[in-house]
Amino acid sequence: MLNFNYRNPTHVVFGKDRIAELDQLVPANAKVLITYGGGSVVRFGTLDKVKAALGKRTVIEFGGIEANPKYDTLMQAVEVARKQNIDFILAVGGGSVMDGSKFIALATQFDGDTTSLLHHGFAPVPVAEDKVIPLGVIATLPATGSEMNAFAVVSYQGGKFPVNHPNVYPTFAMLDPELTFSLPQIQVANGVVDAFVHVLEQYATYPVDARVQDRTAEGIMRTLIEIGPITIAEPTNYEARANLMWSATSALNGMIGVGVPFDWTTHMIGHELTAIFNIDHAQTLAVVLPSVWRVLKTQKQAKLLQYAERVWDITAGDDDSRVEQAIVKTEAFFQQVGLKTRLRDHGVEKAQIETVINALEAHGMTALSETGKVDLAMSRKILEMAW
Ligand code: NZQ
Ligand code: ZN
Repeated sequence: MLNFNYRNPTHVVFGKDRIAELDQLVPANAKVLITYGGGSVVRFGTLDKVKAALGKRTVIEFGGIEANPKYDTLMQAVEVARKQNIDFILAVGGGSVMDGSKFIALATQFDGDTTSLLHHGFAPVPVAEDKVIPLGVIATLPATGSEMNAFAVVSYQGGKFPVNHPNVYPTFAMLDPELTFSLPQIQVANGVVDAFVHVLEQYATYPVDARVQDRTAEGIMRTLIEIGPITIAEPTNYEARANLMWSATSALNGMIGVGVPFDWTTHMIGHELTAIFNIDHAQTLAVVLPSVWRVLKTQKQAKLLQYAERVWDITAGDDDSRVEQAIVKTEAFFQQVGLKTRLRDHGVEKAQIETVINALEAHGMTALSETGKVDLAMSRKILEMAW
C-alpha cells in the first residue's frame, strides 16, 4: 500500500425528511447564499422547504447554475456574494451546482485574477484558508461525489478545469434519497455510470495489496450492478435509491482512493468530449472507458483480471479472454442502464477526433494514466477505438 493522509471533515446527514435540521447545521447568524440550478429545486418544492428551515436568517438566492457550470455564470454569483457580504453558501442541486458553489466559495474573497484558479490541475488552488467561504450542500443527484469531496470542475473557454482546495469540503452534506425521486431516468443512469467509473479510475490500475480499498471498491461496483437497473425502473423505490446515493458518495469521498494509484484518463478525455460536443459527463465515460482498457490491457492486466473475477464472476478462459469478457460485461452494463458506448452514436464524425486531440494538447493532457504513458498518440488510438 502507498503512503497516504486521509481527512474528510464533511458531516453527512443521510435519510428522509431531514431538511428541518438545516436550522442546526447552518450557523445561526449566517448570511446565506442559496445556489441552485435551472429550476428543478423550485419546481419540486425543495427550495421552499430549505428557506423555511433557515428561519430568520438573511437569505439571498442565486439560481441558473447550468450543467457543466460556466465560469462566467459563477462570477455573477461571486459578484452577488461580494456585494451582500455572504458568509455561508448553501448549494441545493446536482454536481454542477455543488461544484459551482465550491468555486464561488473560493473566488469571492480571492484578491487576484480569478481565472488563475482554473489552472492548477490536481494541485490545490492558492487561496488562503481563511478566505474560503464555508459551504453546505443538499445533493439532489447521486453521481459525482461532490457532496463529500474537495473537487469541482468548471467550464471556461471550451475547456473543463478541475479545481480543488481542502477548505471546500462541504461542512455538511444532506443526502435525502427522496429529493432525487424527481430525476429524469437518463440522469439516474448517468449517476450509476459516473459512480461506477469513479470507482474504476481508482481501482483498475496496478495492484499494491490494498485489500480494504479493493474490496470496498468491488462492493460498491457490485451494489451498482445490482441496484442500478432497479433504481432506474423504480424511481420511488427508496431502498434502491438510498443505495445508489451512498454508493455515489462512497465512490469519490476519498476512502477507496487512499494508498492506491489512480488513473483518471477516462475522465480527462471525457471532459474534452463534454466541452466540445456537449455530451453529458457520464455519457462520455461510457464511451471512453472500454477503449482505455483495450489500449492499456497489458498495463492493467492484473487488476482487470481481479475485477473480472470478483465483480463479474468470470473465471473461465485464458488471461486475455477473461479481460475481454470483463470489458464486454462492463459495456453491456452501461448499455443496460441506457447509455451509448460509441462516440459515433452521439453524432460525432470520425474526423472530429482531431479536435479532441488538439484540446487535450492545449490543456496539457499529454501524459495520462497511472503510469503517465498515455500520450496524444495513445489518446488518438483510444478515441478511434471508441468511435
Ligand atoms: O439545473 P436543474 O434544473 O437543477 O436540473 C438538473 C440538470 O439539468 C437536473 N437535476 C438535478 N437534480 C434533480 C434534477 N432534475 C430533477 N430532479 C432532481 N432532483 O439534472 C441535470 C444535471 O445536473 P448536473 O448537476 O449537471 O449533473 P451531475 O450531478 O451529473 O454533475 C455533473 C457535473 O459534475 C462534474 C462534471 O464534470 C459535471 O460538470 N463532476 C464533478 C466531480 C467532483 N466534484 O468530484 C467529479 C465528476 O467526475 C464530475 O467531473
Ligand atoms: Zn465523473
